Amino acid sequence: MATVNAPTAQRCAIWFGLPTPREQAQLAAGGWHLRIAGSDASRQVGMRGDDIVVLVADLRGADVARLATLEGMLLEHTDLPSIALVDGAQGDDESSQRIRASCGRVLHAPFDPDGLADALAELVARPRRDIDSIGGRSPAMLGVRAMLHRYADVDLPVLITGESGTGKELAAHALHDLSRRRERPFVAVNCGAIAPTLVQSELFGHERGAFTGATVRRMGLFESADGGTVFLDEIGDLPLEAQTNLLRVLQEGTLERVGSHRAVRVDVRVLAATHVDLDAAIAQGRFREDLYYRLDVLRLRLPPLRERGDDVELLARQFLDAFRSHHPVQARGFSAAARQCLRTHPWPGNVRELLNRVRRAAVVAEHALIEPDDLQLGASTARVVALDDHRDRTDRDALLAALRATGGNVSACAQRLRISRMTVYRLCRKHGISPDACRWE
Ligand SMILES: Nc1ncnc2c1ncn2[C@@H]1O[C@H](COP(=O)(O)OP(=O)(O)OP(=O)(O)O)[C@@H](O)[C@H]1O
Ligand SMILES: [Mg+2]
Repeated sequence: MATVNAPTAQRCAIWFGLPTPREQAQLAAGGWHLRIAGSDASRQVGMRGDDIVVLVADLRGADVARLATLEGMLLEHTDLPSIALVDGAQGDDESSQRIRASCGRVLHAPFDPDGLADALAELVARPRRDIDSIGGRSPAMLGVRAMLHRYADVDLPVLITGESGTGKELAAHALHDLSRRRERPFVAVNCGAIAPTLVQSELFGHERGAFTGATVRRMGLFESADGGTVFLDEIGDLPLEAQTNLLRVLQEGTLERVGSHRAVRVDVRVLAATHVDLDAAIAQGRFREDLYYRLDVLRLRLPPLRERGDDVELLARQFLDAFRSHHPVQARGFSAAARQCLRTHPWPGNVRELLNRVRRAAVVAEHALIEPDDLQLGASTARVVALDDHRDRTDRDALLAALRATGGNVSACAQRLRISRMTVYRLCRKHGISPDACRWE
């Protein structure tokens, strides 16, 4: 399966510490853009939300203050792959131990700088996301899996619905991987993350000179996915004009690039996802009813986690095992109290929330069994949980608003939200938003 990120994603290594000139040269040769953080030699790398990012925790010669910064940074970014470089000079203090535990890979000096780029590349090798990666044995999930098999090879659109974090994108990948199109591209587009002015040209391409700045002819995402699958996430956010063109692709299998009247034939299967009620959008005149019926030929509903019974524990176990296989952490299982909390928590953020809580707990737990507090699910943390429930969506809305207001300028956006640039990138990646796509014309 080929996944196309648009525009081409670049590989960025954020290095906390100071790489040697040889290490810098090796990374550059391996195609890595380097950003050195936490030192005076800080250099900027223009990063975008869809870039592939690895954190390098360089513990060589780190003092207590830098270790503390590093630890905080790694805890904040458990979703990013990370690698620790150690030379044995720093002791076995608790901070160093925790940092090593939370990194996916630890390289001990003397290590071969020539192997550095490969070690980073291994960390980001994308796992194939097929149906086996969809965990759960509840009747609800057995039903979903059966549907995926049934829908995979029917070349019709599928409308995937479900609350935030229920696995809509995972299901779209599975549909593609199970289909005859699997060797062709899978292109995922977050419709809400592209500036309305750019949507047409992003999706359908443009001719040279079609508008100011269109200096070269550019193929749109639909053309780049020819023979494969286009996954339109947050379809409810697609501007009306683009909805008309999408309807044409679905009805006639053709599109016109911006600035051209020549019909280009494309062969794509369209999958769409929404977490909002499209009926309401239709009633408000924001979504075309005829497009809705075209997209809603086959429907797949991903049930919220609270309807999946024992799957919660099963998934928590799977997530912990997967994390342990890459990270040398203390945690081996869940205490009875933690299991009880897993069962009773309402999981407003669904599987994504569960995954994040388990990963975080695996890093912070100091004993073999994860406790409710490690999951931030203890009675004493009830308020934190309530806040977390709303945070994901609020974060996304605030981020999008700030990016749009600043024309996709990450520094200005960071300033506006009073967070670091890195947090902007992390949130963009988490919510599938590309700052570039929010650029002004
Ligand atoms: N059944 C599952 N088994 C294992 N992992 C899952 C499952 N469902 C979802 N996940 C994981 O949970 C996370 C969220 O899934 P995904 O991005 O597909 O959800 P989504 O419904 O698209 O979310 P959103 O509405 O926020 O876009 C991903 O890391 C995904 O791999
Ligand atoms: Mg999604």
